[in-house]
Amino acid sequence: MRTQVGIVGAGPAGLLLSHLLALRGIDSVLIEIRSREYCEARQRAGVLEAGSVRLLREAGLADRLDRQGLEHGGIYLQFDGERQHIDFRELTGRTVTVYAQTEVVKDLIARRLADGGPDAIEFSVSGTEVADLDTDKPLLRYTDAAGVRHEVGCDVIAGCDGFHGICRPSVPAGILASTERDYPYSWLGILADVAPSTDELIYAHHRNGFALHSLRSPTLSRLYFQVDPDEDIANWPDDRIWAELASRFELPGWTLQQGPVLDKAITPMRSFVSAPMRYGRLFLAGDAAHIVPPTGAKGLNLAIGDVALLAAAVDGLLHGEPALADAYSATCLRRIWRCTHFSWWMTTMLHRTPGADDMEAQLQLAQLRYVAGSRAAATSLAENYTGYF
Ligand code: FAD
Ligand code: PHB
Repeated sequence: MRTQVGIVGAGPAGLLLSHLLALRGIDSVLIEIRSREYCEARQRAGVLEAGSVRLLREAGLADRLDRQGLEHGGIYLQFDGERQHIDFRELTGRTVTVYAQTEVVKDLIARRLADGGPDAIEFSVSGTEVADLDTDKPLLRYTDAAGVRHEVGCDVIAGCDGFHGICRPSVPAGILASTERDYPYSWLGILADVAPSTDELIYAHHRNGFALHSLRSPTLSRLYFQVDPDEDIANWPDDRIWAELASRFELPGWTLQQGPVLDKAITPMRSFVSAPMRYGRLFLAGDAAHIVPPTGAKGLNLAIGDVALLAAAVDGLLHGEPALADAYSATCLRRIWRCTHFSWWMTTMLHRTPGADDMEAQLQLAQLRYVAGSRAAATSLAENYTGYF
């Protein structure tokens, strides 16, 4: 079996890359370890930068996004017992769109299967291997859901298989350099069947730790709060979750509406960058190469940005013009490091380090007052949140 591009992983990065390549007339084999149902149910990010929305629209993927996405012109920062609005539209002329990653993934899967037929994505594969990466004919091997082993000769392999995937570890030792920071807290996130209690996202600084009120639709809320890194979800029955959220968002005259919890999970917080994002004919994209803590809402947007560049780079490489492919890693890394800094800055400004003294809280509050009070500081937040690149 042969294809031009072997793509490992049908998350947002792999799915979008496969579609962008198809628009350029380039064929791909896309394999995914999980089932379609699992991929479509996985709860993750929710905020799209204006540039990501534009890209999805230009790629003909925004029918439902344009109907159901919720355009937001700002966020609230809550601290010191007050809720302050940061007006992105006024400060930068830009907005973001709240549209769940699960919905982006559903739209992409439906489109790939409609355009490429039922074999356009191989779900539920096992034993994925990539080989001969430093040659012009790298190989992709996997076992399909029926137990049949395949070997696919490729021109290029795209490692879009997330942080725990096999592509990054397939690069020989000594080639990639990784930089990593684990934060001493996790997020407990819930999806709740209740109308959001806010018109825009609330990022709250609280003595018990950070909390975030996000949303999914006029009837669905998404909320998160900081917990210890080794916290067990079994310790958090729904009424305890709601009590903790109510206390972290407490504001005179405002009530947090509660409802049935549809999904709950704990996510660790990590910054991670692995470079370069290319080894021979293997290109890494999205979480396979970098992770940011979700406080800046950047993970999904970075994955989209990587594959937009990668589609053009692969097109050039396959047609004897390697300049974009040669520049791929350095071009991506400029944006990745900007977002890594912004996500770290938002995270450390809003979370409570376990065991920290009052100095941390006072420095955070001083910074939050500055962001809310200074047009220059607020513009910096707004510019980064809506998408600097
Ligand atoms: P992924 O979405 O991880 O996709 C990788 C795909 O590869 C997966 O479908 C996986 O099953 C598949 N795969 C893995 N190994 C193999 C293999 N060997 N063979 C074949 N397929 C394989 N970002 C935010 O901005 N806000 C959030 O609230 C937020 N929450 C998150 C919660 C969790 C639990 C995680 C893990 C991430 C979260 N993120 C969040 C980050 C954001 O969701 C990611 O940045 C985004 O999913 C990156 O897309 P991706 O396609 O690069 O990787
Ligand atoms: C979400 O809606 O899931 C979300 C929003 C903003 C973030 C992180 C997650 O910073």
